[in-house]
Parts: sequence; structure tokens; C-alpha cells
Amino acid sequence: MLDFLGDLQRTHTCGALRSQHDGQRVTLMGWVNRRRDLGQLLFIDLRDRTGITQIVFDAGANPALHEKASRLRSEYVIAISGRVTRRSPDTVNKNISTGEVEVVADPDPSALRLLNESKTPPFSPADDATSTIANEEMRLKYRYLDLRRPAMQSNIELRHKVALAIRNDLAARGFLEIETPFMTRSTPEGARDYLVPSRVYPGSFYALPQSPQLFKQILMISGFDKYFQIVRCFRDEDLRADRQPEFTQIDLEMTYPQQELVFAVVEGFLTAAFKAAGFALKTPFQRMKYDEAIRLYGNDKPDLRLPPMTDVRPAFTAEDFSELKIDDRLPVVAVRIPNAGKLSDKESKELRAASDLRAPKDKQFLGTFYDLKQIEKKRPELAKKIRQLAGAAENDLVAPIAAIRRDAAPRPANITAQYVNAGHLRLEWAQKFADRHNAFSHTDPAERFRFAWVTDFPMFEYDDSTGGWNAAHHPFTSPHEQDMEKVLAVRDLGSVRALAYDVVLNGTELGSGSIRIHRQDVQKQIFRALGMTDDEARSRFGFFLEALEYGTPPHGGIALGLDRIVMILAGAESLREVIPFPKTAKAVDLMVDAPTPVSEAQLKELGIKTKS
Ligand code: AMO
Repeated sequence: MLDFLGDLQRTHTCGALRSQHDGQRVTLMGWVNRRRDLGQLLFIDLRDRTGITQIVFDAGANPALHEKASRLRSEYVIAISGRVTRRSPDTVNKNISTGEVEVVADPDPSALRLLNESKTPPFSPADDATSTIANEEMRLKYRYLDLRRPAMQSNIELRHKVALAIRNDLAARGFLEIETPFMTRSTPEGARDYLVPSRVYPGSFYALPQSPQLFKQILMISGFDKYFQIVRCFRDEDLRADRQPEFTQIDLEMTYPQQELVFAVVEGFLTAAFKAAGFALKTPFQRMKYDEAIRLYGNDKPDLRLPPMTDVRPAFTAEDFSELKIDDRLPVVAVRIPNAGKLSDKESKELRAASDLRAPKDKQFLGTFYDLKQIEKKRPELAKKIRQLAGAAENDLVAPIAAIRRDAAPRPANITAQYVNAGHLRLEWAQKFADRHNAFSHTDPAERFRFAWVTDFPMFEYDDSTGGWNAAHHPFTSPHEQDMEKVLAVRDLGSVRALAYDVVLNGTELGSGSIRIHRQDVQKQIFRALGMTDDEARSRFGFFLEALEYGTPPHGGIALGLDRIVMILAGAESLREVIPFPKTAKAVDLMVDAPTPVSEAQLKELGIKTKS
């Protein structure tokens, strides 16, 4: 039978009591984490968000109360009144913050109130290690129990602290937090829209924003000067561990900024955010042009915890090239992994099998990596020069990745492919040999969190499937002023650089932004370059093109993924660990069971017919 709460008020939380409370009468409330029955003495670990306190029931002092306590089960909710007592030195529990004390239940029969029972949970919230709960679907279905686990409580608290630190930092820098609508028109960010049907206008739809991009630009036109928002965005795209259909951006925009000013603002709030999580960051972050990132890391989101790659062609003589049948017109990219040692014959064979390099267009075989051990046998001088050029220390693994010689001249795309392929292998091998080097387990925050700004992205990407150009960032990004002429003349679009930048951390894109187009003529021309007719542009973005005609100041900004930042700070592998109510990789909310079909009546009201 359950007890009423009556006028009882808790005096302390379950993580509050210390030895200085010795002798005080207290009332605690919480969940039964564990019960241990030692016959005469019965122990309950009582849990809430703040911690765990041990409660003691003594059969000698009050047999009825002891008997009531023996009926408690995991996750029952109780109130308990008793006296704080210092534990003897041999029973102190160093694993919990309240471990120096315990609460001895009052002998009074109402000292223990059973406020609610619980069914046996499908997994125990007392099990803190996520790895012991095998089934993630179970965790998501019973998210309320999963969120009770201390690991999840701490992730969600971390999220709160990080968001608060960022909000305070931006407010202190003069940014205003301004809300923008969720029910709006499509903003292109490269994903599909989630649509909301209108009842009043059957057949018409609002789109949930993929980002507040156009609204924040309009706010600059309206003179708000510095805007930010910690805001939900919605994208219907293929999900991965670092993508959710709804996610949160730290979105900001400012008038008249040079890129460097945006970087300084972001470095400022990231420093505050990391401080809130207990880590000191070093600023300014490294800056790197896109071309350089591709050449050194084979990637536009370089993982700087590992050394860059080197083109070791200068190590080869003409004879080396011809005997090894290596193409000297393509880079020979040496990947170096510090402290990973030499490859065993078995590893060498396995990696070779898994490392064929292909051209991007026709998947034509380009080449593979060469095991330096083999080269050492036949050409020790060459092996030595390669190691030297790659800057290798004695115990570093060095693998040159080369293309086999063919008659046709390589296309520029194959040169990029050579770096990109090598960049993939670099990351794959570093993961594979992670136990041999400490790059991923640095304890020094400056080594552990290696940020970079990647700048000077290409403005356009060629789309093989349509034979047209796509915006590499989004169509509101400004080209470099020096490349403007090419844009206005729609000439040589592949070489146009954008005033776009990404902030990346350890191989993850945390944020992306740009200086925007503020001139209507340029904006119209970009839409044309992207293959949009003037009519199409007007029908999709007419309001915006019109707004650009009313004195639009130069402006720019950025958006960072809050979920990704918290995921990295929490040391988690998936966004689902830091979002309270996430969706599965198939975009399903397992707890509330969404999406679901709706009633015929509701569809009819919206003027919608579905195909079964
Ligand atoms: P972008 O589309 O690059 O830029 O998004 C910015 C940042 O948002 C995060 N992000 C995501 N996080 C979780 N799940 C997703 N599905 C997801 N998609 C994006 C990433 C990414 O770096 N309007 C522009 C910004 C600007 O130009 O100011 C924009 O949205 O961390």
C-alpha cells in the first residue's frame, strides 16, 4: 500500500550530505537504487540527480520499519527521515560523494514513506555503463529510464552548462538572441524539407527551417547588427552518428565583419563553452586554406591529432619511378602514423588488399600503397629518403601511396583523388593502430582538442549527374571579391573561391559559415550560375531578392552544431547520447512512436489523400 506524502518536505538531495552533517535529522526523497539485506541490517542506496545516499534500517531498533524496507524494490520512490551518522573508517565508500556518512532511519513508523512503486524495469537505471545495456532500441523506447542513469544525467547537465556559457558569452559581446519562425518557407541547405500542411490553404505547405539562414540575413537588413540564436533546425536527410533530423545550432550573424572577426567571436564562445566543461582552450585556432587541407590531410575537415601527409616524389629518381612503375605526374603521398611501428607481413597484405585507389569519375584503378619494408629491401636509399621527407622518427609507420604509371595524362580530379584516397587510408589506419599511438587519447586539452579554421572553399561544385553547378556552401555565400568578375561573366566557375569557412575539430565539422552576398545583382547572377531561371529564383526567393534592394549592409556569420560540440565534450560516440529525446538512424522516435499515420478525418481536413 502506498503512503501519502502529507506535509513532508525533503531537506537535502541525495548527493548533499557530508561528514559535517553528522547528527542532523534529515528527510531525503528519491529512487531505490539498490537494496542489500544483511539480516539484522538492511541498506538502501537512495538515488536522485545529485547522487546516492546510503540509508540503514536496523531490525533491532524497529522491526516493523525494517520489514517495510525489506519489501522495497528497485526504482520504488520513497521518502525517508533519519539521522546523519558518520561511517566508521573501514566502511567509508570513496566511490560516492556522500560516502563518509549514512542516514540511519528514525525508529518512528512513518520514517519511511512508500510514495510509488515501479514495475521491474527492462534495464536498471543503476547500471551506469552504457555498454552493459546491449540494446539501444530498448534505451530509446524507455528513454525516461535511460535518462535516469547518472551518465545520461551528466550529459544533459553538460549540455545545459555549455549552452548557458555560450549564451552568456554572446550576450556579453553585444549579440541579441532573436527568435525566427519554425513554420516558414524552404531554405536550401542541401537536405530535404519537413513539410507542414496548411488546413486553411489546402494543398499548401509550410516548411520547417533547415536553418534560419534567410531570416538572420533579413535581421541584418533590419539593422540588428549582431544576432544569435540557439535554435532547432530540421533536415530530412540520411542519418549518421553525427546527424539527427532535428538538431540544435548556435547560429549567428553580424554586419560589416571581416572573416577574422567572425573567427574571434567563435573562438571566444568556444573557449567559454569548453571552460564550462573543465577544459582550457588555446586560441587563435590554426587557419588553413581548403587546398592546403586537401593536400596535407586529404580532407576538408582535417584531424590534426595526426601529422600531415607529404608528397615524397622528390625522394624518387627517374629510375625509381620507372622500375616501380609509379606515375610521377601524380603525387606520391606518404602517410605517417607516429609510434605505429612497422607493419607485419600479415598487416601489410591485409592493408594492401583493402587499399586500392580509384579515380572519382570512372572508378578506374589508380594505385595503392607501398610497404616501406619491401622498398627497403630493394632500394634502401629510396626508403631512407622517403622517411626523411616524411619527417619520420625511428618508430613511425610510413606508407607511400602511389599511382601506377599509365599512358593517359592524369586529370586534375585524379590528383585530388590521390590526396583524398590517401586521407581516407590515413584515418582508417590511425583507427586500426590506435592502440600503438596516443594521438586519440591525449590528456592535455591543447593536444586533445585540435581546432582549425578551413577557409577559401570553392564556391561551386560540379554535379556530374546533371552537368550543372551546385553551391558548395549555400547560394547566399559571397565569392571572393577578386573572383567576382568570373561569377558575373559566368566563366571558369570551378576556380571561383568563396568567402566560406568551416571550424573543424579532430576530423569533425563543428560549424560552417560565410560572408554573404549583399548585392542583388550578384545574388541574381549566382542563382543563374546555379542553373535557376530568373522566374524560378523570383518564385523561391523573391522576398529576399526584394529585401536586398533596400540598403543591405555587408554581413556574414556562421552556425555551429551544439549537439556535436556536447558530444565531443562528453566523449560520446553518437549525438543520441547528448540529445534528451533523439531519433533513431531511421528517424523514428521510439518512445512516443512517431511518425504515425493520422486519421482519415484529419487528412480530409487538410485536403490530403495518401497512397497506401
Ligand atoms: P550547415 O548546413 O553547414 O550551415 O550547418 C552548420 C552546422 O550545423 C550542424 N549540423 C548538424 N548537426 C546535427 N545533425 C544534422 N543533421 C546537422 N546538419 C548540420 C553541423 C554543421 O557544421 N546556415 C548555414 C550556416 C551559415 O552559413 O551561417 C548552415 O546551416 O555542426
